[in-house]
Amino acid sequence: MYSKITVSALLALMALVPEISAHSVIVKATGANGSAGKALAVDDQTPRDGTRRNPFQRDSTVFRNQRTVAQAKGCGQTIQNGPINVATLMSQAASDGMPQVAPGGVLSMTLHQVNADGAGPYTCMIDSTGTGASFVAMTVTQNVAGQNGRNNRGNMQDLPLQVQIPANQQCTGTSGSATNICMVRCQNNARNGPFGGCVPVQVGAGGGNGTPGAGNGTAPATGNNGVDNAAGANPNTGAGAGNAGGNAGAGNNNRQGNAGNRQGNAGNRQGNRQGNRQGQAGNRQGQAGNRQGQNRQQRQGANNRQQNRQQRRWAA
Ligand SMILES: *[C@@H]1O[C@H](CO)[C@@H](O)[C@H](O)[C@H]1NC(C)=O
Ligand SMILES: *[C@@H]1O[C@H](CO)[C@@H](O)[C@H](O)[C@H]1NC(C)=O
Repeated sequence: MYSKITVSALLALMALVPEISAHSVIVKATGANGSAGKALAVDDQTPRDGTRRNPFQRDSTVFRNQRTVAQAKGCGQTIQNGPINVATLMSQAASDGMPQVAPGGVLSMTLHQVNADGAGPYTCMIDSTGTGASFVAMTVTQNVAGQNGRNNRGNMQDLPLQVQIPANQQCTGTSGSATNICMVRCQNNARNGPFGGCVPVQVGAGGGNGTPGAGNGTAPATGNNGVDNAAGANPNTGAGAGNAGGNAGAGNNNRQGNAGNRQGNAGNRQGNRQGNRQGQAGNRQGQAGNRQGQNRQQRQGANNRQQNRQQRRWAA
């Protein structure tokens, strides 16, 4: 009897306790050269002008029972999405676009604080495999105001949150043709949280985004064209995946193609100049010919006029 009462009392109590919900969203993450993305499972259709659970909290991430960097595994869950499947949402991110940041560079995020316990301060961490398997702490260069994840003045605000990618960061994650992916995860310490989000980021130029130029450049040499190499890693001893990703980058092919294009253009300019000069010379000769022809005609005309005068005299 006692235990029956306890169970039903517990059930009644659970109905009163608000379901765990989430109260901040990383709605944008900007890298170098205009590249940008957002946290996994963020739904751009979610209105941002309210604080209620539905719809305003539906795409916020909660990292239940993972308060420390050491406890952090994967990318949490949202009300709308449920547990986040990193691989699936990563391929969505790869097709939507991801921020690209050089090693040592800054990733600038916009954190939308839905209500009071989406506040800062935030702890951020990075996973070099892009899968969320294992994170290490990283430097937050601009944080969100708050105490223990609470700040009543932060409701419905877009706030800057910036982290620095470690200078020696290697990123080995891939998704489709996108390479060099790391996962950045930021979370506050709210009692019902932690709240925050997971942002995939390409460190270095990533996959490039253009098709190779149509110029007559030679194919890129294998082995040395990757971002990892540019960042100073030894291509012969670095992780195989990193070098392969860099070498496959279409951006590098572009540079080679551009060199070819520039030479081709130079060739065209030379051809045009040569052709124009020859044409002008021809014109000059033609004009000289015209002048000679005119002179001959004038002389002939004068002769004709004399003959006419002679004939008129004879006739008279
Ligand atoms: C941004 O563009 C510059 C110039 O093309 C390039 O050198 C640099 O690697 C790019 N940065 C990233 C992070 O892709
Ligand atoms: C590309 O074409 C130009 C013009 O014909 C030529 O001068 C140049 O050597 C060519 N470059 C290569 C890499 O073949």
